[in-house]
Amino acid sequence: MKLADNKATLSFSNGSASIDLPVYRGTVGPDVIDIRKLYAQTGMFTYDPGFLSTAACQSAITYIDGDKGELLYRGYPIEQLATTCDFMETCHLLLYGRLPDIAAKAEFTQRVTYHTMVNEQMQFFLRGFRRDAHPMAIMTGLVGALSAFYHDSTDIHNPEHRDISALRLIAKMPTLVAMAYKYSAGQPFMYPKNSLSYAGNFLHMMFATPCEDYVVNPVIERALDRIFVLHADHEQNASTSTVRLCGSSGTNPFAAIAAGVACLWGPAHGGANEACLNMLEDIQAMGGIAKVGQFMEQVKDKNSGVKLMGFGHRVYKNYDPRAKLMQETCKEVLASLGLENDPLFKLAMALEKIALEDDYFVQRKLYPNVDFYSGIVQRAIGIPVSLFTAIFALARTVGWIAQLNEMIGDPEYKIGRPRQLFSGSTRRDVLPIAQR
Ligand code: SDX
Repeated sequence: MKLADNKATLSFSNGSASIDLPVYRGTVGPDVIDIRKLYAQTGMFTYDPGFLSTAACQSAITYIDGDKGELLYRGYPIEQLATTCDFMETCHLLLYGRLPDIAAKAEFTQRVTYHTMVNEQMQFFLRGFRRDAHPMAIMTGLVGALSAFYHDSTDIHNPEHRDISALRLIAKMPTLVAMAYKYSAGQPFMYPKNSLSYAGNFLHMMFATPCEDYVVNPVIERALDRIFVLHADHEQNASTSTVRLCGSSGTNPFAAIAAGVACLWGPAHGGANEACLNMLEDIQAMGGIAKVGQFMEQVKDKNSGVKLMGFGHRVYKNYDPRAKLMQETCKEVLASLGLENDPLFKLAMALEKIALEDDYFVQRKLYPNVDFYSGIVQRAIGIPVSLFTAIFALARTVGWIAQLNEMIGDPEYKIGRPRQLFSGSTRRDVLPIAQR
């Protein structure tokens, strides 16, 4: 970043001395006002719950223009990456800042492939869960537990440890998610098969059984790979910010990523894809498209607490480019499976059309986000609704790691420690219990 040809002067109506604050400019996007010296110079904090106007870091990984509906991974538009690259190329790009050539892609893919197995002990963690445990409860536990197997390489300040941990996490997430699914289905775990692609191997571990050969459907394999690309990273969203804050204490990468998994679970964030599919199924049960108008009235009634899941976004005030690509993938997968008339897909399309023409949504610039169509694709593939967010976590792991490694590699980084506006009791003395 560089100093902008501008500065911010902060003056106070109560006559306190005004101060000048430097303004920095990135390569693209809003300038920032550097307030790091504000407290020292004024004795005051800024106040920004939810970080609506706060840049928490400097990053070169992902750029979002919410007004244009633009998403770039290391400068490359998501539309081009999702249609001309695969997830291994995207992982290489996010981690190392460049798309691999043929040799580098083969080498990276092989390194990931040879880390897909988990320690045999990992399977015993699952036995502690009920069979109906939510997969995100299992994933939060399993990812954190991974650190117990790599004490020799969890020093986040060691670049080699960061690199091997990145590969291990990217490689093992599909194995762990598939194990969580198999455990809930009461089926035996399937070991990774090194001859398969990253997405193909995940499908195999999910749907193969020891009883017969499993043939990967190339259309579904490609669709799943694209779902991984679309979910790989997204700037400083809630779970990525969680990973950065957690990692800033110097904890090991597995613990930091486990914190990201826990945050992603929330229905306002990655849990929205599961909530969106459940919402569509509820509307379908109410009567389908004929009942959409009634449902939308509930959404617009603030007291109902009902939101149109899969719609709205803190940054996008235009169509989420990932939602467009996900809708296309939806159509391809449904067509290849002969499900063109899937009622939920038709309901989602009708819901989107009504919402985009409704003043409530237009005024608030509420558009479909990545979660609106992703559930329909995954459900068509045969993935249970409760596993949708775990698959989001699988794909986002590379983004979390890239952001964590960028932070640790930044000489300016410090442990994150926000302050507060205190509104509680001022000092008072404890009374003996008999006098309270
Ligand atoms: C993800 O940050 C990321 O990048 C996240 C993500 C990623 O890749 O990491 O993109 C993934 O989390 C996508 C978002 C998934 N969440 C959902 O689909 C859940 C439904 N959406 C909302 O909860 C909401 O839109 C948020 C949480 C996504 C954004 O909330 P904000 O930015 O805090 O916006 P807001 O709640 O202040 O909403 C502004 C207005 C409010 O109405 P008013 O107070 O102005 O009258 O819009 C309304 C909200 O009530 N609103 C909605 C709505 N979303 C916002 N009303 C109905 N349905 C919705 N979905």
